[in-house]
Amino acid sequence: MRISVIGCGYLGAVHAACMAQLGHDVVGLDVDEAKIARLTRAEAPFFEPGLPELLQESMATGRLRFTSDPAEVAGARVHFVCVGTPQKRGEHAADLRYVEAAVQALLPHLAPGDVVVGKSTVPVGTAEVIAEQVAAVQPEATVVWNPEFLREGFAVQDTLHPDRIVYGLPPGPAGERARALLDEVYATPLADGTPQVVTDYATAQLVKVAANSFLATKISFINAMAELCEATGADVTQLADAIGHDERIGRRFLNAGLGFGGGCLPKDIRAFMARAGELGVDQALSFLREVDSINMRRRVRMVDLAREVCQGSIVGRRVAVLGAAFKPDSDDIRDSPALSVAAQMGLQGATVVVTDPQALENAERVWPDLTYAATAYEAAKDADVVVLATEWKQYRELDPVEFGAVVAGKRIVDGRNVLDPAQWRAAGWVYRALGRP
Ligand code: UGA
Repeated sequence: MRISVIGCGYLGAVHAACMAQLGHDVVGLDVDEAKIARLTRAEAPFFEPGLPELLQESMATGRLRFTSDPAEVAGARVHFVCVGTPQKRGEHAADLRYVEAAVQALLPHLAPGDVVVGKSTVPVGTAEVIAEQVAAVQPEATVVWNPEFLREGFAVQDTLHPDRIVYGLPPGPAGERARALLDEVYATPLADGTPQVVTDYATAQLVKVAANSFLATKISFINAMAELCEATGADVTQLADAIGHDERIGRRFLNAGLGFGGGCLPKDIRAFMARAGELGVDQALSFLREVDSINMRRRVRMVDLAREVCQGSIVGRRVAVLGAAFKPDSDDIRDSPALSVAAQMGLQGATVVVTDPQALENAERVWPDLTYAATAYEAAKDADVVVLATEWKQYRELDPVEFGAVVAGKRIVDGRNVLDPAQWRAAGWVYRALGRP
């Protein structure tokens, strides 16, 4: 199948490479010339495990190429819209300018029978607008909404082996024809038994934001419990283990700590609230405001804990922050809790040194005033307090005895509840964590 992928960011670059891997003939389009140049050299423009190898393999087959020329999408039968929908500046709503630009770039090149597949996370109602725009230019093309559920860090695996495939279709034969074409695109995962859910446009768009809202709520729920644990001397990690044994609750996404960040959960719950307001059902989602507040309070609490272990003041203290990415196995720093904490401590008078295995370049660009170091040991040299903010494997496996030799004061605040308190205390550290005694 000839496929075009519009937008080659975290979603589109992975999607394009995976579609080529599934045997399709793929062209990836992006307005960013530098990104296209890197992708054309089979280099991943961001850190994503498995992507460089996949790009090299797929490019070698001759079935994958990248371009910044929209005319080159002509001839593809299926066009995936994979551009970003960030939060609008100063507002909760989603900024749809990239989706609008992608559709405008695509319209002149659509042929009868083509299928435009929306993957971007959009406010419900967007697919319907795009369908009208497409129908006005090419009445024999069809729009399908096919939300994406990949996680950064597992993007390749999640794309090749998704846990479900959702199509939002228009009613009638056009929808059925589009469905058949998309079934060909996803023939391999469908043959593997991936569950498929076929819906209308509105449901498909809502599935995506509902899923992310649920995940955000689950994280904030356990972080709210962490606040209770802090007030009572209880241990939130044991509480999560105990409630997680109930299969109806489940242990996954119950890791209390610094909370959620990234380019998806925070902006998605806000855009969802904004859209609900426009639809006159804002009360239905008012709980998400609380989910957001609980999440942001964790960052403040983390700085407070660092202050507490430093006898009430971080002014002039040296703080090592382990982690800059919003989660491990990613170089993505969008709305990163780690950097938010680092920046707050810097503004409050501490000398902050941040380290991260992959995200330093991105972090330095956005927060040039912080100091950066290549390794945990370099960052922690002469530190008065160490803050573990992103649970990279290399930080989880630090040896408290060896690591204790480089710091000025053995104080650690575990923002992700991943260290063994007994082991660190035995090595002479003052150990504090969110939601733990
Ligand atoms: C999220 C969803 O998990 C994906 O299904 C979705 O496709 C994606 O957004 C998207 O909308 O594109 P992602 O942003 O890659 O994926 O990250 P997650 O793995 O969901 O983690 C989000 C944040 O929650 C991270 O900051 C992580 O540290 C935090 N988190 C996660 C917790 O604080 N506790 C947990 O138990 C789990």
